[in-house]
Amino acid sequence: MMDVRKITFQQHGDERGQLVAIEELLDAPFEFKRIYFMYDTKNGVRRGYHAHRKLKQILFCVHGNCKIHVDDGERTCEYLLNKPYEGLFIDGLIWREMYDFSEDAVLMVIASDFYNERDYIRDYDKFKEVVSKLHDTN
Ligand code: TYD
Repeated sequence: MMDVRKITFQQHGDERGQLVAIEELLDAPFEFKRIYFMYDTKNGVRRGYHAHRKLKQILFCVHGNCKIHVDDGERTCEYLLNKPYEGLFIDGLIWREMYDFSEDAVLMVIASDFYNERDYIRDYDKFKEVVSKLHDTN
């Protein structure tokens, strides 16, 4: 089973507008150490093209919209992110690509750990190899 799912976060809305709050282990199913965001993504750009060995993340398109392609080595799935209160939770060894960014898209990511290039798998064949080794030992 691919450990990717959409989470709808509570909106604290009133007549003034909306607010979303995310607390570790309460709203997000992990502890987090880093937030980063992508904006000004140029038209037609597709990025990502990597998997993580350990990192847990939630991706939010807090403004505009974009699509996320995920792949667990056996199945692929596409998600549309177009609501600021919806997040895509991705746990660990999942190949991901982000694409179809609207001009105004801001893709914000909450991550369980600091930036660490050693956690990245940036080669698709290597990713498939790591996935198959994992399945062999399970
Ligand atoms: P990159 O990993 O290429 O983006 P993606 O794979 O998601 O398309 O990241 C772009 C640059 O930003 C690269 O030089 C690494 C740097 N970076 C950090 O310094 N810290 C971070 O937390 C992230 C995600 C990237």
